[in-house]
Amino acid sequence: MGVSRSTLVFRPYPFFSGHGDGAYLVDLDGNRYLDLVNNYTSLIHGHTHRPTRDAIVRAVDLSPSPGVPTTLEEELAREVMSRIPSIESLRFAVSGSEAVLCAIRAARQFTGRSRIVKFEGAFHGAIDDVQRNIGQPPMEAGSFGAGTPATGGVPTRDTVVAVYNDIESLRGAFERHGDEIAAVIIEPYLGNAALIDAEPEFLATTVEVAQQCGALTIFDEIQSCRIVPGGAQALYGIKPDLTTMGKTIGGGLPLALAGGRGDVMSVYDGFEPAVVQTGTFNAFPLSLAAAMATLDDWRQPDFDRLNSMGEAVRTGLREIFDRHEMQVCVNGRGSMFHITCSAEPVTRYRTHAEAPSGPVLDLHHELLGRGIAMMARGTGCLSTAMDEADISFFLGAVESSVASLSDSAVAS
Ligand SMILES: Cc1ncc(COP(=O)(O)O)c(C=O)c1O
Repeated sequence: MGVSRSTLVFRPYPFFSGHGDGAYLVDLDGNRYLDLVNNYTSLIHGHTHRPTRDAIVRAVDLSPSPGVPTTLEEELAREVMSRIPSIESLRFAVSGSEAVLCAIRAARQFTGRSRIVKFEGAFHGAIDDVQRNIGQPPMEAGSFGAGTPATGGVPTRDTVVAVYNDIESLRGAFERHGDEIAAVIIEPYLGNAALIDAEPEFLATTVEVAQQCGALTIFDEIQSCRIVPGGAQALYGIKPDLTTMGKTIGGGLPLALAGGRGDVMSVYDGFEPAVVQTGTFNAFPLSLAAAMATLDDWRQPDFDRLNSMGEAVRTGLREIFDRHEMQVCVNGRGSMFHITCSAEPVTRYRTHAEAPSGPVLDLHHELLGRGIAMMARGTGCLSTAMDEADISFFLGAVESSVASLSDSAVAS
């Protein structure tokens, strides 16, 4: 099909990009789309942020790939650590998946244990340890276990899958396997499953139970680092042992990181490190340069403006669905939103997984025809390239799409 990323395939067929223009994507036929996908939450300044482009060009001129360290690496590390105090030491990687691998390896080496706890519905990337129970039927409430591979080719490993926002399930996993668990990996909200928020008590209990059992907590902030400068851990007031970040921090180029407690991350230090980190394009200078330029333009006032547009979108969507008497739940935080066809609030993976996907796919399709690109699963996110006029354009397109879908439902 000409697509090397399963996520990008939707029915009847995806469109191909011609070029980006600020908040918009233009396809090969010249159709313009307000881009609410932003490369699956990665782009914070849209497509043509001039300072990022200039920084990349400067880095290319110096050498795109010198094969020796650059000072950009330390510069960016210092900027990240100034924003996220729990990160005392960090390693850069190319993708979020590799950053997760880097954190898991550090946890295993540091604790001398092998098992990892993850939660159903949580996506942490392509590596085998975490590719379980994603987009699959919900587990029994309170249950936990080895889980089910999310795709072919994933072997049985040391992973234990527990139910998100379910303290009984979490405690069960630790009571059964506590002294074998190296780490629990958790997203503060399920970025790929209806943006379900971790309940504060659940998140705090997760950290507490892990600590009691001598396991580490890895916060996967690869998506949630777009919410506030200090990541969701700042919002919850929790200091995890390790954190992974990716997507937005690369300014549109491939970059991710794993960092946290200095004593844990020191497994990577020295001439003969206990854990070896390899990767030809790790800390890729073009990505580091893009990241610095992106972060320079992404400070508290920028977060505030983006997040208040996000609030306006969520409120506007709820008003439209209410006016049309549709049973739809709109979740989301900061600059993100998710639409689920559900009469009840979507606070559990079970509710999300059992909701019909057809109406959301229809809405996605209608919106494409009106010049709006959002994720086919019903998620969208904003970029700083957008303004109030773009938000009104989006909400107007949702209103007319919903009206047209209701008319065709009545007619059929
Ligand atoms: C929360 C989370 N963790 C990890 C990853 C994996 O990142 P990457 O696709 O860069 O490997 C993703 C990607 O969507 C993600 O959303």
